[in-house]
Amino acid sequence: MYHIISIRDFERNEIDYLLEKARTFDTPAYDARALEGKLLALLFFEPSTRTRMSFETAMARLGGRSISVDSVEASSIVKGETLADTIRVVSGYVDAIVLRHPKEGAARLASEFASVPVINAGDGAGQHPSQTLLDLYTIRQSMPIDRVRVGLLGDLRYGRTAHSLAYALSLYGATLHTIAPSGLELPSNILHELRERGMDVTEHENIDSILRELDVLYVTRIQRERFPDTASYFNVASSYRITPELLTGVRDHLMILHPLPRAGEIDPAVDCLPYARYFEQSRNGVPVRMALLYEVMK
Ligand code: CP
Repeated sequence: MYHIISIRDFERNEIDYLLEKARTFDTPAYDARALEGKLLALLFFEPSTRTRMSFETAMARLGGRSISVDSVEASSIVKGETLADTIRVVSGYVDAIVLRHPKEGAARLASEFASVPVINAGDGAGQHPSQTLLDLYTIRQSMPIDRVRVGLLGDLRYGRTAHSLAYALSLYGATLHTIAPSGLELPSNILHELRERGMDVTEHENIDSILRELDVLYVTRIQRERFPDTASYFNVASSYRITPELLTGVRDHLMILHPLPRAGEIDPAVDCLPYARYFEQSRNGVPVRMALLYEVMK
């Protein structure tokens, strides 16, 4: 395992191995000096709370240290330096790089210029593989991933977490129900590839038609920052809202996940229901990222 760019690069056995490794870091018995002497660079050219802080936490828990750049404005990119040059330079300082970038494909490009492992922490509307691993880890804590019935809700056009998760679930024989407003459906190339992989995928616009059949409801935010203008965002911004009333009659074991941040699509009144697992999901980012960092730097 070297670069972690897209979940499409993974075989199922590699994902299972990482999830099992994460479980070993989710106990007090792990080696807190496993990455002592190692240095991680966090290059975040888009905002982040969870991904950035959980990678930093994961590194610290394994005895390693981190350095970071938090914005384009705080880096020499404002002076015209290319991403390729930035990556070449930072590769000379550290043992691995975690990169978040607004452009799809940026992490793949960075990996071509890096002399250390690159982990994609989100590249525009592309992929977010470490998020998918923690999503799968959270599902597996409660039910087998095999043949799970998942509803992917929200902005499936721009939502990179939805793209990565859909690909990963196709390795587990999962049934996928996509639920998106008109114009924000899962891109046709992804839909086509999922079906070519043998996945049973059904598209919906209305959540009521499928909600009561799901094991997992994966809610995503409408990605305002990816819209060409404010008006087209507000046309779809309030398409869905998960409320306690809406959840009447759902399966007892339904798990509601969300990569967070949320922006109105889940009523806070849902937080205290047994279905709500998104804060636990967020917490799982630490052991999962410990496993990833360990595997690329050990
Ligand atoms: N889920 C996620 O990627 O959150 P952040 O944008 O806060 O990192």
